[in-house]
Amino acid sequence: MLKINVLYDGKSAALSAYRGESISELLKKEGILISQPCLGKGKCGKCVVKVLNRAYPYDEADIKLLGEKAVNEGLRLLCRMKAIRDVEIELKPQKKFDILADFENKYLDFNSEQKGFAICLDIGTTTLAAQLINLRDGKIVKVCSKINSQATFGADVVSRMEASLKGNKEELEKIIKLDIMGCFNELCTDILKCEVKKIILAGNTVMTYLLLGMDCKDISQFPFKCNFNDLKKYCFKDIFGNDEFNADVYIINCLSAFVGGDIVSGAVFCALLENKNSLFIDIGTNAEMAVFNGEKLFICSAPAGPVFEGGEISCGMASVEGAICSASFDGKIWSYETINKAKAVGICGSGLIDAVAAIIENNIVDKNGLICEKYFDSGIKIGKNVKISQADIRKFQLAKAAVRAGIKILLKKADIELCDIKSIFLSGGFGSKINTRSAFRTGLLPAEFEGKICSVGNSSLGGLRDIALIMPLGCLENIKKAAFDINLAQINDFNDIFMEEINF
Ligand code: FES
Repeated sequence: MLKINVLYDGKSAALSAYRGESISELLKKEGILISQPCLGKGKCGKCVVKVLNRAYPYDEADIKLLGEKAVNEGLRLLCRMKAIRDVEIELKPQKKFDILADFENKYLDFNSEQKGFAICLDIGTTTLAAQLINLRDGKIVKVCSKINSQATFGADVVSRMEASLKGNKEELEKIIKLDIMGCFNELCTDILKCEVKKIILAGNTVMTYLLLGMDCKDISQFPFKCNFNDLKKYCFKDIFGNDEFNADVYIINCLSAFVGGDIVSGAVFCALLENKNSLFIDIGTNAEMAVFNGEKLFICSAPAGPVFEGGEISCGMASVEGAICSASFDGKIWSYETINKAKAVGICGSGLIDAVAAIIENNIVDKNGLICEKYFDSGIKIGKNVKISQADIRKFQLAKAAVRAGIKILLKKADIELCDIKSIFLSGGFGSKINTRSAFRTGLLPAEFEGKICSVGNSSLGGLRDIALIMPLGCLENIKKAAFDINLAQINDFNDIFMEEINF
């Protein structure tokens, strides 16, 4: 057996591996989880570790993604490393995500007979956000957020479903439950766990399936059927396998294979059924949308891809320290801000939208998205190490066209004209960070929406608090009954509409 020494988070682990064994798999087995956005395919370059003792073999993916200099300094892609000889590696500390656990506060003068506390938790594909709520006055007592450790099985829901279907269902369930328990424990440091009376959880359909250990087959293939369509109440032990808490656990139902419980609770928070002709949008790797036309709640999920989360962009990165999160260009000089005012190391979704808007305004690209000759080969330099390339612009166009096509089809089905939309609830971290002016300039949102945008923050968490405090079971039932799912993949002219939306 070979010795693999791992240094991480100020700890160390001495592991044993068979010759040829994958080191990332070994770490996974030991519960040392590192994010592998491309699922270990050697494409994203995000699983970097440092070899500490002596030179270690590398392959062409290491050179291509990290560069020769970094490889000579001992950096390696963990997903490519096999146990060849004894080695000591250091994992990079996980960068802190800028996680949104905030929303508009509706309960300033709330008073009820309820005693104790509720925990509300939004299970996102990338992050988890949770709050401890005082049931008597509706106040938020404590907030906590965490990275979803399932990222070791890929960055998006498709990779997670694939991993689950390939025999990792139990592992994924175990990982998410550990993350959730971590949040619970963090929230309860100043209260007794027996004071928690309710736990309310919501996530997208895939996260909900993985938490419940359900088979993802039906939601991953045609006709994409979701089998978790009713709010369910569980006893704590049935879900988490221990009796650390004595609270009832409620899991919010999904509406379809693509629209989950997080959108249901968002719809509760934004009172969508009371706001006829209001559009709800949550932009992430999918842009989930809902609009109520007075009769039905039309819902869909547009496949935006990872671009708005900084994925697949040459210098793109998640909303972590050092990411350019806003940018402008005066025709000569770029100005930008980074998360935590750290040195710029990449660009996240909100920064990318600003940058593309400035590139359009300064005629650096034409309306077809072609970069002018001066920058065509070099790319457009925003910061010392951050550039926007022609390929980045193309990816941006595809993502924004998917969102715009989704909006167009949704409104057409609901028989609502763009100009008749009264308000737009922009939900989620991305929605609350983007500069709406840039969103209009790039065409991500139609000009008809100007002056009507309302950023609602983490509406899923906000809706969960509504549910914890007033248990609007009738409202949840009405949302379920009114929901009319539109599967964009089955819309015949989706591709034509998508192509109409590509240009700037
Ligand atoms: S290169 Fe993507 S996970 Fe290793």
